[in-house]
This record gives sequence, structure tokens and C-alpha cells, in this order.
Amino acid sequence: MPALVLLGAQWGDEGKGKATDLLGGSVDYVVRYQGGNNAGHTVVVGDQKYALHLLPSGILSPDCTPVIGNGVVVDPSVLLSELSGLEDRGVDTSKLLVSGNAHLITPYHETLDKVTERFLGKRRIGTTGRGIGPTYADKINRVGIRVQDLFDESILLQKVEAALDFKNQVLAKLYNRRAISAQQVVDELLGYAEQIKGYVADTALVLNNAVDEGKVVLFEGGQGTLLDVDHGTYPFVTSSNPTAGGACTGSGVGPTKINRVIGILKAYTTRVGAGPFPTELFDDDGEALRRIGGEFGVTTGRNRRCGWFDAVIARYATRVNGLTDFFLTKLDVLTGWERIPVCVAYEIEGERVEELPYNQSDFHHAKPVYEYLPGWTEDITKAKTFDDLPPNARAYVKALEDMSGAPISAIGVGPGRDETIQVNSFL
Ligand code: GDP
Ligand code: IMO
Ligand code: MG
Repeated sequence: MPALVLLGAQWGDEGKGKATDLLGGSVDYVVRYQGGNNAGHTVVVGDQKYALHLLPSGILSPDCTPVIGNGVVVDPSVLLSELSGLEDRGVDTSKLLVSGNAHLITPYHETLDKVTERFLGKRRIGTTGRGIGPTYADKINRVGIRVQDLFDESILLQKVEAALDFKNQVLAKLYNRRAISAQQVVDELLGYAEQIKGYVADTALVLNNAVDEGKVVLFEGGQGTLLDVDHGTYPFVTSSNPTAGGACTGSGVGPTKINRVIGILKAYTTRVGAGPFPTELFDDDGEALRRIGGEFGVTTGRNRRCGWFDAVIARYATRVNGLTDFFLTKLDVLTGWERIPVCVAYEIEGERVEELPYNQSDFHHAKPVYEYLPGWTEDITKAKTFDDLPPNARAYVKALEDMSGAPISAIGVGPGRDETIQVNSFL
């Protein structure tokens, strides 16, 4: 089983970090293929808690090589501070590989992200403010700065000047901001170059060789399916492709080499930032999910919006990612509810709709159609096998599996590495 993708099936924060870490001990490479430090992946190992933003969660497994692929956007200051933070905690980070083709987030990208959001006012996306959108925009616009540019001072200056030419006009004339000095940006970037140089590699070559040699490669998605710039709730999305195809473009490993695609699926739904969310709760149940589930952003500290499980979204994730499995997380959070609503379809202008509406306005008007499943009160955090779960919890998982279109092969019953029920092996 050489290559598998692990990605978010909803709007992010499904527990990808935990799931990746769980597999990290048995895989050779863990690869981030898109996004940047907008991600916040929590990994709990024993009594230690790690919050990873840019680095792949595999960095916590000593035998695993972590890789930042070409599709990622890299803020060099964040990269170095995350590395030194882990080293201070005794984590060996020396194996990290970074693609020379990955694009750099510079201070002007972060500035533009923030001023654009402010300018949008009520129409803002609610971005993480980390410069993600402007950096991907520059990449597509062919005025981006790549990791490899750090090692050629004159090229770097030319590229930063070219990028700032237009942006400084926008900053000064539209946003009433001071122009940014290209030389200052270059000086800052060059300050990181020496420390980053040792990590830079032709990661596409390394990964293809690894797959050909039968090594196990795990692609770890950031964000989630509904935040995908093509398949998500556009424009309330991130600027990359967290969906399975992104693993190929963001790493240089072709689709014929991917064997398995695992969707991480929370037993309920959350979302951070703006945009439609049919099952969102504004009542005590929503507050309880937030409190019990600890639903506060790892990156921005914002309250996550909370709602019931949405099977329409899960089915959609199965479809656009070609999911082979689900990893259902946070089942333990639902303990204690007498009955648990599950959204099985939408009602849009009086009609029942089973699939995610293609039209954005329809999705904004979608009302959830609920079925009510009986809850359980038993503590499930110690469950090790499916049969250890109380009957109603088993029935809940089975119902979700039937509605979602792929087998639920693992179930999270707590944040820790060992708080997982493995139903089918992933490897
Ligand atoms: P990610 O962005 O997909 O990696 O997810 P986050 O780390 O942002 O959010 C998931 C949160 O849920 C983290 O605090 C995890 O430690 C926690 N978590 C993951 N799986 C489980 C689980 O099965 N049960 C509980 N109670 N918490 C979990
Ligand atoms: P992980 O990997 C949840 C959301 C932001 C905003 C939108 C665009 O931890 O699941 P961006 O800064 O990417 O331009 O913001 O995407 N967003 C996330 N929401 N989890 C994440 O990452 C997210 N990364 C971005 O809140 O709505
Ligand atoms: Mg997260």
C-alpha cells in the first residue's frame, strides 16, 4: 500500500493531525501538499500536545520523513519558528524536506490579506490573515517568489520588485497604505536563506522514487473538501485544493500511484470563518458541542461554528475525492445527548434535495432535513473495539456509514493517539 491521501471531508478541523500522527509510525513519508500555516493540526502524544501549522504531522514520528511539497505556500519565518519550537521540545526535525518549487509567503502577502479583508467589510471571507490567498494569487499570476529564489540574490530582488510594482500602487492608491520597500523584503528573506537551504530538495523526485521502492507515503491535507477553491463553497473557501487531486499536483506524484484516499469526518460539523453552513446551530446544543468538543481555532483562536452531522456533505466528499475510507472523529463528544439529529437531505424552496446543490444560491438557502438517532450515555473513551461501543453508538456509526458512501474504517473516541478504534487497517 505505497501511497495514501488523508484529507478533511468537511470544513477543516476534522482531526487530520491526530489521524496522520496515528499512521506516522508506520509510514515512511508524510507530505503536506497544499495550504500553509492557515492550518492548525493538533496532535496529542501522551501528556504532550502539539499544534502544527505548516509542518506535516509526521514530524513527530522519528522514523518518518516529513515533506513540504511544491503545492504548499511557505512563510519562512513561521517555518523556522515552528522548527525551533519543536527542537526545544526534543523533536528531531533534521529529516524535513522542502520543495524548492513551493511558493513563499512574504510580509506583503500577509498585509494584502488583512487589508483586503478589511476592505471587503461585511462580505469578508474570514481568512486566517496568514497571506494564503494573495500568495496563491501571485503563483497563478506568475509573479510569485519560490523557495529556490532565496538562493539567488539578484533574481530574488528582480522578482520582488516585479511583484511589488503593481501591489505598491494598490496599497498606496486604493488602501491608503505606505508602499513596501523591495530591498527590505529581500533583506528579510535573505536572512532566512541559509537556515532553510539544508532542507531544500527535489521532493517530487524523492517521493516518486520512494513510491517506486514500495515505501509508504502519506499525503496529509490541510483545510477540507468544502474549503477547496474548486469544489468548496466558493468564494468562502481557501485558495488551494485540499481535495484528493491536490495531492498529485501539490507533490508531483501521479494519480495512478495513489492507492487509498481517507476522508477525516467529524461526528458532527464545524466551520471557522464566513460562508453557508446548513446544519449550524445557534442554540444550547451548538454551545454544548463547542464546549465539549473544544471547538476553538488552533490558528486564530476563533470560536468554531458548530452544527449536527451533515450526510449530504459526507456523500459529496466521497464523490469529489473518490474516498475509499472514512476516519470518523470525536464520537465521544456526542455522548450524553438523548437523541442526535443527522441531516440526511436538504429542503430547497420546498423540494427535497439529496445531493449538494450545484448552484451557490441554492446552497445558501438549503434547510437541513433531519433524522433523529437515539443517543447513549455510557463513557466511550476507553473503547478499543467496535463491539466495546454501546449499541446506540454503534448504530450511529453504521447509520453515518450507510449515508456517507464509504466504509468507516477508524473511529476517534478521544484526542490521544491510542483513543482510536481501528475497524479496518489503512495499510
Ligand atoms: P485538524 O485541523 O483536522 O488537524 O483538526 P484540529 O486539530 O484543528 O481540531 C481537532 C481537535 O479535535 C483537536 O483538538 C484534536 O486533539 C481533537 N480530536 C481529534 N480526534 C478526536 C477524537 O476522536 N475525540 C476528541 N474528543 N477529540 C479529538
Ligand atoms: P485545518 O488544516 C478550518 C478557513 C478560514 C476562512 C477560509 C479562508 O486546521 O483544518 P485562508 O486563510 O485559508 O485564506 O482562509 O478558510 N480555513 C480553515 N478553517 N481549518 C483550517 O485548517 C482552515 N484553514 C483555513 O477560516 O474561512
Ligand atoms: Mg485545524
